[in-house]
Amino acid sequence: MTGGDGTALDGLLAGAPDFEPGQVWLVGAGPGDPSLLTLAAVSALGQADVVVYDALVDPRILDLARPEAERLFAGKRGGKPSHNQADISATLVDLARKGRRVLRLKGGDPFVFGRGGEECAALGAAGIPIRIIPGITSGLSGLTAAGIPATLRGVNQAIFLATGHGAGQTGAADAIDWRRVAGLGQPIVLYMAMKMMPLIRAELRAGGLPGTTPCAAIVSATTADQRVVFSQVDRLVEDMEAAGLEPPAVIAIGEIVRHRSVLDGAVRLAVGSERPAAE
Ligand SMILES: C[S@@+](CC[C@H](N)C(=O)[O-])C[C@H]1O[C@@H](n2cnc3c(N)ncnc32)[C@H](O)[C@@H]1O
Repeated sequence: MTGGDGTALDGLLAGAPDFEPGQVWLVGAGPGDPSLLTLAAVSALGQADVVVYDALVDPRILDLARPEAERLFAGKRGGKPSHNQADISATLVDLARKGRRVLRLKGGDPFVFGRGGEECAALGAAGIPIRIIPGITSGLSGLTAAGIPATLRGVNQAIFLATGHGAGQTGAADAIDWRRVAGLGQPIVLYMAMKMMPLIRAELRAGGLPGTTPCAAIVSATTADQRVVFSQVDRLVEDMEAAGLEPPAVIAIGEIVRHRSVLDGAVRLAVGSERPAAE
């Protein structure tokens, strides 16, 4: 850490609440780059007895836990063997009941498409004391890291954050009507949407979204592996395939994406020397 004698930073960390035995803290690990962790997360890692972590958490973040802290992987990745959500919640309850300081570390923000709410409900029902530490969500920081403004005066006054995970499932209470979303006329930011993008695109087009609407896929945002593919709605799926993109990715759709190039000269300094994979 630079930019001071460290006293002010030490003071902030020392003022953090004590992690008591038998508690579970649900902590956001941010989008990828370990330097985007919150100070509250760093303080919590330094106190935990056990860290139960997800798939997208950088190992350097786990290194911030005490050497003797136990590290338990509880990751879930689409298409690969998954830990069952009920088992994860039961493990958290069990560890807390054994009097351990349990840190549940989740990528991004625990309450944004992270099933943090379900884990909290299970812990609450079991009477386990919980603390929640927000994290920087990938849907917004991914755009920023790619130089795309999430909002821009005169362009948009809202942004629609959605998961593509359940697209195509009918009858679910939380199903998205993509045709109506197209009618909002506001930018759309999608998590977990690579696989279902052909269907989502067809629905958005049927809802009137022009095929020329600019879009971007941002892979491994904020990490050394970040890649950005710029495209337009009627070519996005093909361009992602041609570039060989693999999850995790956030997909941005809307006029805000066009403003990446408007801001390009200024942004290059802000986001480093990375160049988009395709434009
Ligand atoms: C289960 S969701 C968890 C989201 C997380 N709670 C958050 O707030 O960012 C996983 C999805 O988040 C997105 N994601 C997470 N980290 C990312 C990153 N570094 N770059 C791009 N997308 C990311 C991808 O869409 C990925 O499939």
